[in-house]
Amino acid sequence: MATSAPARSLLPAGDLGGRHIVLGLSGGIACYKAAELCRAMVKAGATVQVVMTDAACQFITPVTMQALSGRPVFSSQWDPREAAGVGNNMAHINLSREADAIVVAPASADFMAKLVHGRADELLSLMCLARPIESVPLILAPAMNREMWSHPATQRNIEQLRADGTTVLDVGAGEQACGETGDGRMLEPEELLYDLVRFFTPKLLAGQHVLVSAGPTFEAIDPVRGLTNLSSGKMGFAIARAAHEAGAQVTLVAGPVGLPTPRGVGRVNVKSALNMQKSLDHLAQAATVFVSAAAVADWRPAQMLDQKIKKDGSGEVPTLSFVENPDILASIAASPRAQSGALYCVGFAAESQDLLAHAQAKRVRKGVPLLVGNIGPDTFGQDDNALLLVDAHGTVELPRASKLVLARQLIAEIARRLHG
Ligand code: CTP
Repeated sequence: MATSAPARSLLPAGDLGGRHIVLGLSGGIACYKAAELCRAMVKAGATVQVVMTDAACQFITPVTMQALSGRPVFSSQWDPREAAGVGNNMAHINLSREADAIVVAPASADFMAKLVHGRADELLSLMCLARPIESVPLILAPAMNREMWSHPATQRNIEQLRADGTTVLDVGAGEQACGETGDGRMLEPEELLYDLVRFFTPKLLAGQHVLVSAGPTFEAIDPVRGLTNLSSGKMGFAIARAAHEAGAQVTLVAGPVGLPTPRGVGRVNVKSALNMQKSLDHLAQAATVFVSAAAVADWRPAQMLDQKIKKDGSGEVPTLSFVENPDILASIAASPRAQSGALYCVGFAAESQDLLAHAQAKRVRKGVPLLVGNIGPDTFGQDDNALLLVDAHGTVELPRASKLVLARQLIAEIARRLHG
């Protein structure tokens, strides 16, 4: 919970820390995006070795890629320079042996067709074929015209590549460099970086359907006024992202916040506590984990007026009366699915003092197996936080860190409890 900023700012610098990536570029206008991707991977802590085909060098120069990666680029299998510190003139062997993954972005239609047939007539395809298939994953980011993309030959090739163990990422849709509109654009560098980070994340929640609530609720007084709170939704959005990285199917029910939806996550926007309850009650029927990170307003005006309340010049102030909102978490936690263990519920507690005592009492009151306590005034609007996890066995402290780091730790804690 806290204020608004793009999910991008939640990305800590070390997401690819310690990873060595061989970034291959085949020919396509999307090579310009590979420059940004290279920069983003380096910023995320990876070391990057760029390998380019001759066709790629027609679109962007090796000088640019060398400057961004900080390493000389390889583009020929006859290049006599030392590769990966070995001077045996076998760049196709040496470069792939030290890689945690080979990422080809852009992967052209022609390049994928070559891979399907195991052809190896230039350095990049030679290196893909010569890589240790069990330990060096190959990840392709296709990029091409929409007709080339939807052609049965390309779709057949992608199916074959997947069957051969290659990870073929999605493509984007939209306006293409050729002026046509449709599927086939290479994903944006930020999306590719996210997919890469996810690729390396252990799939602790594979097979789970995680439902997350996030943000404040807005309780209307009249058509232009309402009651809300300072929650930004950042913590809930980070949890949704971390759950998706961990392999879960994720649905996020968000109160009114301006945050972008984490990649791969389904989102339902709601306004009031009653709207939120309706969505969550419905979605909880299919979920296996529910994380209630939303700061649900405790009260709503007893009635929502159809017309704006006007000043009448007398100086009299309007009197508002309130009714209590339903406790969404407590009612879902009391449902037969939660009681039978089919739905694991996690609550949050935003407190201003005595965190441990309040969190323990709230966990029992809400009837949830795990409750995550935090100090509200220390977290609302911030990019970082500190959490105290309380369950029936005791407590776990997660020291102050970015909300994404904490979200990943929380997901690992939930997975540990789910797997007994
Ligand atoms: N919650 C909910 N429905 C409500 C109020 C809270 O589902 N009407 C959920 C929150 O999403 C959170 C947990 O209950 O997971 C605790 O919320 P919090 O605001 O800390 O506590 P309250 O139940 O409002 O209790 P209090 O105001 O006494 O601290």
